Amino acid sequence: MHCLWTTAKRGSLYLRAMDEILQQIDRYKDEINAFQAGTAEEVETFRIRFLGTKGIVKNIMAEMKNVPADQRSAFGQVLNSFKQFTEERYALIKESIQGKSVSRSSGPDFTLPGDPIAIGSRHPVTLMRNRIVSIFQRLGFAVAEGPEIEDDWHNFTALNLDENHPARDMQDTFYLSTSPDWLLRTHTSNVQIREMGKGKLPVRIICPGRVYRNETVSARSHCFFHQVEGLYIDEQVSFADLKQTLYFFVQEMFGKDVKIRFRPSYFPFTEPSAEMDISCLLCHGEGCSVCKRTGWLEILGCGMVHPKVLENCGIDSQRYTGFAFGMGIERPALLKYGINDIRLFSENDLRFLNQFTSAT
Ligand code: DAH
Repeated sequence: MHCLWTTAKRGSLYLRAMDEILQQIDRYKDEINAFQAGTAEEVETFRIRFLGTKGIVKNIMAEMKNVPADQRSAFGQVLNSFKQFTEERYALIKESIQGKSVSRSSGPDFTLPGDPIAIGSRHPVTLMRNRIVSIFQRLGFAVAEGPEIEDDWHNFTALNLDENHPARDMQDTFYLSTSPDWLLRTHTSNVQIREMGKGKLPVRIICPGRVYRNETVSARSHCFFHQVEGLYIDEQVSFADLKQTLYFFVQEMFGKDVKIRFRPSYFPFTEPSAEMDISCLLCHGEGCSVCKRTGWLEILGCGMVHPKVLENCGIDSQRYTGFAFGMGIERPALLKYGINDIRLFSENDLRFLNQFTSAT
């Protein structure tokens, strides 16, 4: 590069100044080549030093005006190539620190917008359970819970399900061990026995929970599902109280226009026993495929607590009476949300679960 400046002209002060500039350019080039950026801040300092409005490149370019006319073209080429060299190096340096955008010295940048927090939604079975429970809570029922791993007494015997009752069949019940019999509870009625056994009267409880049955999994049935059990024991509780309580529940849950009806039924732990239907939510009693053309949907089983069950829990059945009811949670959830496959509830597919919000 120095040869651009012929030795013949080196005698003058002016040319010595020009030579100095060229030497300076060489030193700057060495500096630029050696530059290693660690942070965005360092790169920016580099940019300001060399390419800023008052930077080295600008200053050197400004020397052009002092160059004699016959040397301008050659000197101009050197300056332009230095400018281009600096810009290219700057682009490479900038690229090399991309991704390391947090500067070492400044720490996190609190002015950056925050990462959005994904808001979860409640499971449809939880939503339905909460709705059911809160209606009964408003009537003064307290929430009670019991174990999912249960013994034979609380799940069967105390509930008047004698030893030969078909519900005990190995096909229906998941036994964990025999003698002593440990099993996965087949219904939430075990909580009745546990609560009545505490000896505190009156009892007015609502018991949500998960239950298990050895059933083939299909769109309509599952080997585990959820129930809500209700129990009210006091002096002079009658079937009229049961009807009125359940009527209130249906109106709150499904709407004022929905009708109810009771059909006589049989459960070992209630006498008399009944099943309660509501008028079909889809066809309003006209008859459709959901209600199998009957106009009614079966919702729960209920009845007056059998005196033997009261006695099994140490309650005087001459003085106390009570009603009980039990309903599945999945079925009303299927109806309410228009879901046609019960397996969706336990598959944990986020595309399904994300459709539910706490508000619905
Ligand atoms: N335990 C019954 C079942 O799982 C449901 C039930 C029916 C509960 C009648 C009750 C009742 O308390 O009175 O099918």
